[in-house]
Amino acid sequence: MKKRIAILPGDGIGPEVMQGAVRVLQAISDCFQHDFIFEEGLIGGAAIDECGNPLPDTTLDLCSKSDAILLGAVGGPKWEATSQTIRPEQGLLRIRKELGLFANLRPVCAYEPLIHASTLKKEVIEHVDLLIVRELTGGLYFGKPSERRGDNKELAVDTLVYNIQEIERVVDKAFQLARKRRKKLTSVDKANVLESSRMWREVVNRLSANYPDVQVEHMLVDSASMQLIYRPEQFDVIVTENLFGDILSDEASMITGSLGMLPSASLRSDAVGLYEPVHGSAPDIAGKNLANPLGMVLSVALMLKFSFGLDKEASIIEESVMKVLNDGFHTGDLHLQQGTRVSTTKMVNKIIDS
Ligand code: NAI
Ligand code: MG
Repeated sequence: MKKRIAILPGDGIGPEVMQGAVRVLQAISDCFQHDFIFEEGLIGGAAIDECGNPLPDTTLDLCSKSDAILLGAVGGPKWEATSQTIRPEQGLLRIRKELGLFANLRPVCAYEPLIHASTLKKEVIEHVDLLIVRELTGGLYFGKPSERRGDNKELAVDTLVYNIQEIERVVDKAFQLARKRRKKLTSVDKANVLESSRMWREVVNRLSANYPDVQVEHMLVDSASMQLIYRPEQFDVIVTENLFGDILSDEASMITGSLGMLPSASLRSDAVGLYEPVHGSAPDIAGKNLANPLGMVLSVALMLKFSFGLDKEASIIEESVMKVLNDGFHTGDLHLQQGTRVSTTKMVNKIIDS
C-alpha cells in the first residue's frame, strides 16, 4: 500500500517520540511491503523560529496533500516568554480547523502491568476499554462573540453555538465506531439546562434509528464525570461536545496510567486524519532520551487502523506495546517499582524487536 504521511515533529520531546514512530512504521512497512512516504513539515515553536508563523502555508499544503498526518507536540517556555500574540499552540488549533478535523478520539484502556501504578483501585480499572469522541471544531471554543465588554471590561462573553450538521457528523461518526466495538453509545450533554444540549439529544435520538444494533443512553455531564471514576468499565463509546469532551477526556486519561501512554486521533468524514499523543512537549525532560514513546507509537496504530484500514498491522503494534510492558520494560514516567527502566530509543527498539 502506498501512502503519503506528513511528519510534524514540533517541539520539546515531539521530535524524540516522532523518531520512534517513524522507525516503527518503517519496520511495519518493511515487513508488509508497504510504501510509506514520509515528508516532514514545521509546526509550533520550531516553525515560529524558522519563519515567524506557527503553521506556515508550506506545512498546511503538505498536510492537504497527505493521506495522514503525524504530530509530536508543540509549545514550550521559550515561546511563552517571547510573544503574547504568536504562540505555538495556535498552529495546532488552526491545523484542526483548516483541515476540518471535527472528531477527536481518545481511547483509554487498562494495561495490566500499569494497573498497580494507578491511584485508582485495581477492581475499578482492570476492565476499562472506552473511547471518547469529542467534537473538536465547534461549540464554546469557537463561538462568536467571545470578548470583554464595558467601560472597565467588567463583562466577559463567550458563546456556545452549534449548527445541526456539526452535531450530526460527529454523532454519526460515534455511532459507526460503537458499531465496530461493543455497540454501546453514551451521549453526554447538559440537556436540563442548555438549548444546544437539547438539540444534541434530538440528533442522537434521530440518528439512533439508523443504528438499531447500537444501544444508546444519555447522561448529564456532571453525572458522567462522576461515573467515569466510579464505574469506568460501564462505558464503551462516549460522544460529547467540545468543552465537555475536553474535560472528560483529560479525566478519563488518568484512569489507567501515564499521560505518556495515551494516543489520539482527529478525524473528518473521509479517511484523512491527524494522529498525536495526548501529552505536550514536556520541556522538563526534552532532549534527554527519557520520554515515553508509547503514546506516539499507539497513535501510529490508530492511523494504520482509521486512515489506512490496516487493522492487522495496527494490532501488531498494539500487541508489541502490551508485550514490552508485560516484559517489564518502561520509561521513568510510569513510576513502576519493578521491571527495567529504559530510554526512549531503547523502548522503541524493544517494540520493533518484539
Ligand atoms: P506535558 O504533557 O508536556 O507535561 C506534563 C508532565 O508529564 C511533565 O512532567 C512531563 O515531563 C510529563 N510527560 C508528558 N509526556 C510525557 C512522555 N511522553 N514521557 C514522559 N513524561 C511525559 O504538559 P505541560 O507541562 O502542561 O505543557 C508543556 C508544553 O506543552 C506547554 O507549552 C503546553 O502548551 C504544551 N502542550 C502541547 C500539547 C500538544 O502539542 N498537543 C498538549 C498539551 C500541552
Ligand atoms: Mg485539554
